[in-house]
Amino acid sequence: MHVLLIGSGGREHAIAAKLKTAPRLTRLTAAPGNAGIAALAEIAALDVTDHAAVVDFCRRESVDLVFVGPEAPLVAGIVDDLAAAGIRAFGPSRVAAQLEGSKGYTKDLCREAFIPTAAYGRFAEASAARAYVLEKGAPIVVKADGLAAGKGVVVADTVEEALAAVDACFEGAFGAAGAEVVVEELLVGEEASFFAIADGETVKPLTAAQDHKRVGDGDTGPNTGGMGAYSPAPIVDAAMAERIMAEIVRPTVTAMARRGTPFTGILFAGLMITAEGPKLIEYNTRFGDPETEVMLPRMTSDLLELALAAAEGRLRDVQVAFSDETALTVVMAAKGYPGAYDKGSAIEGIDAAEALGATVFHAGTALVDGRLVANGGRVLAVTAMGADVAEAQARAYAAVDAIRWPEGFCRRDIGWRAVGTRA
Ligand code: AMP
Ligand code: GLY
Repeated sequence: MHVLLIGSGGREHAIAAKLKTAPRLTRLTAAPGNAGIAALAEIAALDVTDHAAVVDFCRRESVDLVFVGPEAPLVAGIVDDLAAAGIRAFGPSRVAAQLEGSKGYTKDLCREAFIPTAAYGRFAEASAARAYVLEKGAPIVVKADGLAAGKGVVVADTVEEALAAVDACFEGAFGAAGAEVVVEELLVGEEASFFAIADGETVKPLTAAQDHKRVGDGDTGPNTGGMGAYSPAPIVDAAMAERIMAEIVRPTVTAMARRGTPFTGILFAGLMITAEGPKLIEYNTRFGDPETEVMLPRMTSDLLELALAAAEGRLRDVQVAFSDETALTVVMAAKGYPGAYDKGSAIEGIDAAEALGATVFHAGTALVDGRLVANGGRVLAVTAMGADVAEAQARAYAAVDAIRWPEGFCRRDIGWRAVGTRA
């Protein structure tokens, strides 16, 4: 079976590594890929925003399944365009990807299906949004409706800050993503990421992970795409997982089917575990990054068979299983990230890190004249397994310390909520 994997991050490196273990895989191609993925897959010179070119490639190269990693191609409708050409793809349709592409869409679905989430208002112009902020008071959360690469959310401690965030959105700070704004209640609790796989009708739980979104130790500084993660998440025990499925995930999949826009693919629920129970913060309609780098190393089922079963509507018949071990990943980023950073600095010591038993997933790397160099903000995800978070953390940081990259940095406290200390 020939699989085309779309994407270029640590998530896609982890997906590629997992797909490589699938007995039915005969050929793996990635576009655009990165230096780590290139060791596992052929790299196709394909512009993935050109859906006709992707369709042509799939026909020419007899691709049996397209596995879409990131959200942008999903929201742009790549799965619909592939399906129209008779090519099987794993991921939601353009409309179903609105669960990630529009926060207002998801909030309205929650209201329709009685899914617990923060109370909210949805606004297409500034004056009504400002009036809502003034009525509700602070703290309050202001969100650009569309995809804003994780930057469209302001958790405002004061009314002034919230009003400024509303104005920034409508003045174009997030481009088209800010043409609508969601203003919502602040949820208090511990965050967790929960993942499920759906075939339009059946939805099965995968596992949970804990991300670390802030750039600095102790969860300080600006938000990032994620500086590290571990899985499983102790806060999501079996009882909590069942509540999340019963109160949030299954009602979502049922409501999407009822609307005539069934959801197929990975449903990634960003949750706040509050005193009243789990509440939905937001959905993503694909695997998380760096969550995938800790979930897939624990997955004992065949990811290719799962993706095929989901794409073909036969998820009911397949089993999903994970090992009980903990995986923990530390993201190494270029100095300056999530602000401006330089590309091109040399990275050494990956082999030494892997000799310690860790797996180094490439997030933003390139090979230049045979040398590995940084080619993005988040550059590596250094993952280790252990019997618990403390053991996985110690092993991951031992591997991090074997990597020589002076222009990079990482948080030293990934896993702190579970372990209580820095490494
Ligand atoms: P999002 O892009 O929607 O995941 O939001 C980014 C981050 O903002 C989340 O991971 C939370 O830490 C925080 N956040 C978003 N919405 C809320 C909310 N209603 N209450 C508390 N924190 C929130
Ligand atoms: N780590 C968060 C995300 O993938 O969106």
